[in-house]
Amino acid sequence: MPTPHSLDADARALLFLDARSNVNFADRPVHADVVREVWELVKWGPTGNNTVPLRLLVAESEQARATVIGHALDGNRAKLANAPLLVVAAHDERFHDTFDITGAGTASTYERLEADAGRRSSMAHSGAMLQAGYFIVGLRAAGLAVRPYGGFDKAGMDAALFDGMSWRSEVLFGIGYPDVEDHGAGERRGRLGADQAVRVA
Ligand SMILES: Cc1cc2nc3c(=O)[nH]c(=O)nc-3n(C[C@H](O)[C@H](O)[C@H](O)COP(=O)(O)O)c2cc1C
Repeated sequence: MPTPHSLDADARALLFLDARSNVNFADRPVHADVVREVWELVKWGPTGNNTVPLRLLVAESEQARATVIGHALDGNRAKLANAPLLVVAAHDERFHDTFDITGAGTASTYERLEADAGRRSSMAHSGAMLQAGYFIVGLRAAGLAVRPYGGFDKAGMDAALFDGMSWRSEVLFGIGYPDVEDHGAGERRGRLGADQAVRVA
């Protein structure tokens, strides 16, 4: 028996079925406080051992926007410039410094991670990308549209925005209230059905 949906049809449409990776947005600003509010919701999504490695840089000033757009691949620049708010999602390579809050490890785990930057980096990367997915859904739940961008110069972005910090950029987000006339994302491409993507062993 399929499980009945806990969310009504409108909520499912808002979060998944009608939501697109918008290029066009309504002519309405998005305040950085919205990102804070969405974070306060989506931070509760699970991460491995509760490491919570996602960090968000809201590029609100003209200078920060120009830096973000300037490090994007050519084909992404105009699309990013179209978005009312740009956010750089990063992982924190020193996520173990907040073990006092996250309870993600003991003193000996801290020492092991401190000595193994490669392990920290890979844990931070996978956890942050998982949280980036929660962030997308959280933005949609707040009535916003978002397009993610992986096409940018990560080393250059990190040098420009996170110099001397342990944050490493993962993905950019162009965020705004949806343009209801035309999302600008083109014809929707397909997804695999459960018959192709789900196996029961
Ligand atoms: C991790 C990630 C990286 C992406 N990188 C880019 C990018 O560099 N440029 C771009 O135009 N779209 C990029 N996209 C957008 C995807 O192409 C888009 O989300 C996908 O085709 C689904 O579109 P839909 O939500 O409108 O169905 C990226 C999406 C994700 C999740």
